[in-house]
Amino acid sequence: MDSKLLICIVLSILVVGTAHCQLSENFYTSSCPGGVALVTQLTRSRVSADRTMAPSLLRLHFHDCFVQGCDGSVLLDNPSGQGEKESLGNKGTLRGFDVIDDIKKQLEALCPGVISCADILALVARDAVVAIGGTNWSVPLGRRDGSGSSATLANSNLPPPNSNFNALSTLFTSKGFTNSELVTLSGAHTVGVTLCSTIQPRLYNFSSTTATDPAIDPTFAASLKRQCAFGDTTTRIKLDQTTALDTWDQNYYSNVLRGKAVFQSDASLRSNGNSLSRVNQLARSGSVFNRDFGNAMVKMGRIQILTGAQGQIRKNCRAVNS
Ligand code: HEM
Ligand SMILES: *[C@@H]1O[C@H](CO)[C@@H](O)[C@H](O)[C@H]1NC(C)=O
Ligand SMILES: *[C@@H]1O[C@H](CO)[C@@H](O)[C@H](O)[C@H]1NC(C)=O
Repeated sequence: MDSKLLICIVLSILVVGTAHCQLSENFYTSSCPGGVALVTQLTRSRVSADRTMAPSLLRLHFHDCFVQGCDGSVLLDNPSGQGEKESLGNKGTLRGFDVIDDIKKQLEALCPGVISCADILALVARDAVVAIGGTNWSVPLGRRDGSGSSATLANSNLPPPNSNFNALSTLFTSKGFTNSELVTLSGAHTVGVTLCSTIQPRLYNFSSTTATDPAIDPTFAASLKRQCAFGDTTTRIKLDQTTALDTWDQNYYSNVLRGKAVFQSDASLRSNGNSLSRVNQLARSGSVFNRDFGNAMVKMGRIQILTGAQGQIRKNCRAVNS
């Protein structure tokens, strides 16, 4: 076993409450040589077979970290059917579980019981973004896997798409983020899709007096209604419609500025002065967006993590070890 890990485990057993072992980019260098590279290679091949998988894999890490921390809980199949997968924000839209299963299987063959599911999610999120030509960031490792998964917790910790700015700010602040980082992380919506069902209310039943959210640019609203007809719950449409092929860029922010954001949560970033100036800043600079996005992802990856002797290394990401 790695000596740093051993010291950390001994310390966390002796000194109760000091279970904060440091994550490190080289955490698996000696315990599983080639493991991190294998994750990168497998992610790249899955994304090159299906480019739409990249945004889905990025979203998986976000949904893992916001619900009881980055502990792989989003991957658990809860036998009672009340796990995170069954929550409002996940059911029917979260995908990529088979990609994680495949990677975990190959990692177990290479070095059994070493690389956690929580770390796989953190690596895959980065590798997926890189695989579509997006920004790169370092991924500190050493998270361990948790043992519970609750739909109720997911419902209260994942932001709904009709959130206003205050709701988003409160939630992200509770996870340790600034409003500036909230704006930065929302830029993930420069890639990926939404089900039409998610935006039906915004397009057709916004309020008792207004059918369509007046924050949407009228031309864009008409276009969204053509793509998502009233009652269509199954079509998927792009979140950033500025290019036909999903690309990693700062276009999301110009969409927000021009009333071309797909969700109310995205549009709400205009409704606060500081947030609006941050949107303007990121709309102007892809390099600032890329740098800050990477830093914010590293920070996200540290939310309420289990390290040292806490938790376990699951053998199968869908189930707690028996
Ligand atoms: C700020 C609050 C956020 C809200 C309200 C929100 C909400 C949503 C919703 C409703 C969807 C579409 C689900 C569907 O198919 O109907 C979605 C998709 C997506 N979200 Fe977010 N999200 C937020 C923040 C984030 C963050 C922080 C990330 C990652 C860092 C992220 C990454 C994604 C990605 C990549 C997709 C596309 C998924 C795919 O194509 O499979 N989102 N989001
Ligand atoms: C991404 O960053 C990591 C960590 O700094 C590095 O090891 C890796 O080679 C980079 N990947 C690419 C494609 O540049
Ligand atoms: C939703 O909007 C549609 C058309 O805009 C209308 O026919 C329907 O009655 C509305 N439903 C509710 C519950 O308001």
